[in-house]
Amino acid sequence: MTAAIALSTIEKQFSLSISHAFITTGSLQMVSQLVKVACLKDVPEGHAKVVQANGHELALCNVGGEIYCIDDLCTHDNGPLGEGELVNGQIECPRHGARFDVKTGKALCLPAVLPVSTYKVEVKGDDIYVGLPE
Ligand code: FES
Repeated sequence: MTAAIALSTIEKQFSLSISHAFITTGSLQMVSQLVKVACLKDVPEGHAKVVQANGHELALCNVGGEIYCIDDLCTHDNGPLGEGELVNGQIECPRHGARFDVKTGKALCLPAVLPVSTYKVEVKGDDIYVGLPE
């Protein structure tokens, strides 16, 4: 069964409109839906902006004109990452100072040790879309 047929079957079974999927080596790993979350002008270079979409609290981060998206939730103790300072692609949690790579989600220093979730971002015109789990 091809990936396209598999996706079509899933859409019919669950009455979903799937706009994006991540497929590797023939297996369906994760299905997500692209959701418009903000406009480019809302996220100036070197800044983060907190948005809500589909029950997720997210932090959009503009690093050199590229937009990245992470959970707005520090893995140390649920601090609001989107309120942290964004420097050189790293965001610092305003509560206890853990830093995360916004491209990969990797925790770069204590007290956080676990990565923060990252989400696929697509920019279409002036609009920012994020791939969120169904
Ligand atoms: S809550 Fe973020 S470093 Fe503690």
